[in-house]
This record gives sequence, structure tokens and C-alpha cells, in this order.
Amino acid sequence: PLDRKVDSVLALMTLEEKVGQMNQYNGFWEVTGPVPKEGAAALKYEHLKKGWVGSMLNVKGVKDVKALQKIAVEETRLGIPVIFGFDVIHGFKTISPIPLAEAASWDLEAIERSAQIAAAEAAASGLNWTFSPMVDVSRDARWGRVMEGAGEDTYLNSRIAEARVKGFQGNLGEFSVAACVKHFAGYSFAEAGKDYNTVEVSNNTLHNIILPPFKAASDAGALTFMNSFNELEGIPATGNAFLQRQLLKGEWGFKGFVVSDWGSMGEMIPHGYAKDMKEAAMYAANAGSDMDMESYGYVEHLAALVREGKVSQDKVDDAVRRILRVKFMLGLFDDPYKYCNEAREKQTIGKKEFHDGVLDVAKKSIVLLKNEKNLLPLKKTGQKIAVIGALADDKTSPLGSWRIAADDGTAVTVLEGLKKYPGNAITYSKGADVALGKVVFGSETKINMTDKSGFSEAVNAAKSADVVIMVLGEHGLQTGEGRSRSDLNLPGVQQELLETVYKANPNIVLVLNNGRPLTIPWAAQNIPAIVEAWQLGTQSGNAIAQVLYGDYNPSGKLPMSFPRNVGQEPLYYNHKSTGRPGNGQPTESVFWSHYIDVQDGALYPFGYGLSYSKFEYSNLKVSSNSFGKGGKVSVSVDVTNSSKVDGKEVVQLYLRDLIGSVTRPVRELKDFELTEIKAGQTKTITFAINEKTIEFYTANNKWEAEPGDFKVYVGGNSSATLEASFGYTN
Ligand code: IFM
Repeated sequence: PLDRKVDSVLALMTLEEKVGQMNQYNGFWEVTGPVPKEGAAALKYEHLKKGWVGSMLNVKGVKDVKALQKIAVEETRLGIPVIFGFDVIHGFKTISPIPLAEAASWDLEAIERSAQIAAAEAAASGLNWTFSPMVDVSRDARWGRVMEGAGEDTYLNSRIAEARVKGFQGNLGEFSVAACVKHFAGYSFAEAGKDYNTVEVSNNTLHNIILPPFKAASDAGALTFMNSFNELEGIPATGNAFLQRQLLKGEWGFKGFVVSDWGSMGEMIPHGYAKDMKEAAMYAANAGSDMDMESYGYVEHLAALVREGKVSQDKVDDAVRRILRVKFMLGLFDDPYKYCNEAREKQTIGKKEFHDGVLDVAKKSIVLLKNEKNLLPLKKTGQKIAVIGALADDKTSPLGSWRIAADDGTAVTVLEGLKKYPGNAITYSKGADVALGKVVFGSETKINMTDKSGFSEAVNAAKSADVVIMVLGEHGLQTGEGRSRSDLNLPGVQQELLETVYKANPNIVLVLNNGRPLTIPWAAQNIPAIVEAWQLGTQSGNAIAQVLYGDYNPSGKLPMSFPRNVGQEPLYYNHKSTGRPGNGQPTESVFWSHYIDVQDGALYPFGYGLSYSKFEYSNLKVSSNSFGKGGKVSVSVDVTNSSKVDGKEVVQLYLRDLIGSVTRPVRELKDFELTEIKAGQTKTITFAINEKTIEFYTANNKWEAEPGDFKVYVGGNSSATLEASFGYTN
């Protein structure tokens, strides 16, 4: 019946109206102000009235959305409603942790709830489509957009992609929005971590590492996909028929539509693939890019391309069917104003339960990297605490990047959070600015990167304190799109500030705020307590204070490896062995794969994170030596909380496939369980391994399980040493 409805609308449409559905414009004028008379805004307005705009982005708020929808519904010939998209990446007004931080929670329920909250607020604001989740597996911390994904692992990315799709789309009711899985595909593999750079990946990496989270999101019912700026095998993703037609819509059976990335159709010209916009539109349409985001390629050329026989009518019909289908599924044909309820908008945005929800996931996202000298949790009374660092008192930075609907200055700071514990005396000194540099859209914020005039005040404060809390790292706008870095250090003079304060008082708790792994070897060596607190959103300071005081026992685990220095990037745990792996230890010989100036491996590996509890692993067992077709083995392990505090642990299972028809990673995450273990309790955790677990994209160019021997490792991070083996025979 849905297809019949779609066809009945399609049958009424002219070619121009069909092309119009494939056209998406950015919000273009003061919607409730005067009608634009000239320039791009006037043109877009005319197009909207003609039914040549199928979607808009970056319009928000019931009043504005309703005004535009009214034009589409009442003034166009067929009255087809517009679908309104927006980048709701980690919250709308009430901001949750950046996606990379949420991934550190490994808590799929909390992540789903966070997406639900974002969807409810966005939907209440008139929107029905978010350009999220980003499921790009990100191995290079220099890439600014690692903050927007779930980190370096394919399995974790896949599970989180499903949770986010479920959270956003829910039952497609009035509190849900359509998800958009992006960026299809390979965007995060930009060479040297430089945003928009050329991508060079093998077929093996594409299928085994990059694509599975996209497939998982499609299987979870994501309604839309976004293609990407990069090329793949020399063909820009927007014009890539293999990705969009053969794989996504063909083999995977995806029924939704694909939107281009912003202007990415036009970018096929500087890529050196299309000679002009008309040719770019031809490639994009033929390749299955259904909707054009702001290139004007389709609206200006697609009808002519169809008339000239360069794009078939069938291809256009297929794209339009997909777009209409999503609009039907969202209920926009039944009620184009379904998302336009001003009373609901007022009641929904900023609800108390949403603040509670983002606080919950913020606490769960924090990763305890080091805790010596019993510095943490902090004592609640009688302490003199010196809080140092510009980020401790910044109400905007914790909102992070990509939170365009949020108001600056709305985050709870660390200082505010700590002050809610009245038993201690707190002093604050900034010490040094975070060197923000030129990273704010449209305006250059100049902060003197070498100003150390605040050091002496910070040193004095530290001298008279029992404990020093230093909040250092990156400003929220030092990561995100277009914010790649060639260094991963603490920006500006923060490292020097840290070392200077340390000389005055070594009892330092370093709280890191950052959107990507940083290089902190000196801190790891010298500072007794380190807490990775990312950019945690609106409730940031409350979450951090509750963890520092032990009212929440941290359970987060790193979703990306922390390198020792930037030269190790891209650094990821599931690398290949190579022909000269060495054993990670220094030897006399130099002829093995390593650097001569840095210890091998991560400073803090993927999956790593401590707790105020202490977990010990023992008794790893595999139920049988081998299994065959249709069979399985069970892997069990005992996890003991040998401390006096209840806590949560992410028990992780990794496999190594020893020999493959294409070479296999040294280990790969295959399952995990986040579990609560009471003080003194031992829990047995059991995982099942079957053919699905061991399948990979083989030399036969298909997913299959190859017979052979496997090693299994279980533990609290990707360097787990508890080991067993089994075989698979088919
Ligand atoms: O959704 C984004 C995308 O991730 C990057 N380019 C712009 C799009 C829309 O804002």
C-alpha cells in the first residue's frame, strides 16, 4: 500500500516537479520577514512556490518551518510537503556529550536514550530529519571529525550506529526524526587526517573495516544516507555507482534515499571528475545520489539531462519514489504540520528529564585514565582545592562542535559543578588561555597563544592547596569539521602551565576536555590522576564533579587509542601483523616494524579505562576446541570486583583469526558486555561465538567464515592478555 500511495503521487508529477523533489536548499531568508526580492534567496523562494524544492536544511523552529511548509502545501500545484533536515549531532538545545565521548560509555541504552532526547527536541522544533549518525570508523586522531563518530573500531561503531538509528527514529511518531547515516563512504580515511583530503583504501579495508557500520545502520532501518566529499578508487562518492547503486540499494536492499553532502555534487569538478555542473549532475543522478544538497546541479540541469537521454526517466523516478516514500513514512502526507505544534515546542525543549538524560550519559562517558596516590575520589570535606585552567570556567566549550541549535554559554562548568559540593574551599585561577586560533565560523578569535602572565597566580593557588584540579585540553571548537590538526598536544602554553604548577604542587588531578585523543606522555608519567572528560555537553560540569567526588564510579573505556606522539598516527589496535611484527620490545636489531624514537603501541589503548573498583579476570574457558557449520562455542570468564566499591565494567572479547585468504588484524573486538559487579562479587560472563562472529570479506569477495584456528582474548581493554583458542571447520 505504501508503494501504491507513492506511485499515485508520482503519476501526477511533471519532470520538473520530480526534479524539484530531488533538490534541497539551505534555509534562505528571514522566513517570517518580508519576501526576498532579489538574489539567491528570491530564486529559492520562487522555486519553492513552483514545487521545485523537496527539502530544506538549517531552518528550525515551528514558526519558520510552518511558514515554509505552508508555501509548499498551499501554493504549489501538488502540495507535496517539504522534509526539513538539520545537523542534530549530539543534542538539539539540550546538548549531550560529543558522539566520541558517548561511544566511551559503551552503553547502548544510554546512547539510544540520548538520540531519543535529541530527536524529541528537534521534532518539537519542526524538524523531521537529522543528518546523523556519523558512522565513519576513525583511525586518525588528527582528523577533526573523529569527535562526531564512535571511534576506531568497526564492531563498536556498528552497535552504536544501530542504537542511534533506533533512538532517532523510534516509532516515527511526533517525537522522532529520520536518521541519515553518513558519510558514505571512506570520508574518515582522508590522508594524514586532513579533512576533505584524498582517500586511498583497499577493497579489504573498505569491506572489512569501513562498510559494516553502514550496513548495520541500514539493517536497523535508517531511512536515509548521506554520501561524502571524498573519492574512492578515484571516483568521488557522490558520483559513485558502486557504493550507492550496486552496494547500498542493490546488495543491501536499502529502500530510503541518499542525499549528497553539501555541494559535493559540484565538488566533482575540482576533484577533476566532471567538467562542469551539468556533467556532475549526470554522474550523480546515474550513480544514485537522490537529493542534491545545495549544488543547484539537479534543479538547473537534470530535466535537460533526461530530455537528452543522458539520465533515464527510470532513474529519476526511482529517486523520487524513495524521497516520497520517506515523506509518507514520516506521516508528512497525512499531516504536513505534524511537527509544527507551538505548544509542544514550548513544553518539550529543555525538559528536566532531558537534562537528567544528558547528565546520565555524560557521567557514563567519562574515562578514568590514571588514579594514583588515592587522589580520587576527592574527599568531600576539609580540603583546599585549587581549580586551574581556562576550560574549567568556560560555559561554551563543553558544548563541543556540531551543536548548532544550542545557545553559547549554556553548559555547566567544572567550577560550577565542583561548587555544588560545599564541604571544600575552592579557589580558581585561569593560568592560561586555550589557544583557540582561527576556528570560529565567520570570525577570527585571537587569543595570545604564548601569554603566560596567569602562571604565577595559578602557582600560588596550587601552593596552598591540598589538591589541584587542572582542566586542560581543546576548546570545543578546536575539533569538528575543518578542524584537523597536525599536532595532538595540549594547545598553546597549557603543557607548560601543567609542568609549572606540578613543580609547586604535584597533587594534581588532570581533567582533560578534548574532542580527540591527545598526546599526553608527560602527564601520563608524572600526574597522579587523569580523567578523560571530552566535551560532555550541557551538564558537563555536574557530570565531572560527580565523578571526581565518587558519587558516580567511572566505567568509560576509550573508543580510540591514545598515541604517545603524533607521528604514530593513524594508530589503532586492530592493525595487521605485517611480516616483521617484532614483539613490541626493544631489540638490538632495527629490522622490524617500529619507530626508533618512540615505544611501540598506544599510551592508552582502545578499550582502556579504570574505575574506583578493581576488576580481576580469571578462568577463561572455551566450551569446546572447535565448532563446525551451524555450530558455536561459548567463551566464559570470571570477573571479580576485588575492591570495596560497587562498579561497572565493560568486559571485552577479542578474536584473532590466525590465517586468512586475506591477512587478518592482530585482534578484533567481537563482543562486549557492560555489567555491574558488586564489591567482592565474582560474575561469570559468557559470550557465544558462531560463524557470524568469524565471518569476514574474503579473497572470494564475499562475507564468509573460513576454516582455521582462532585465538580469543577477554579482558578490560584491547591489550587483554588472558587467552584461549578454538578452531572452526566447515
Ligand atoms: O551534515 C553535514 C555534513 O556532515 C557535512 N557537510 C554539511 C552537512 C549539512 O550541514
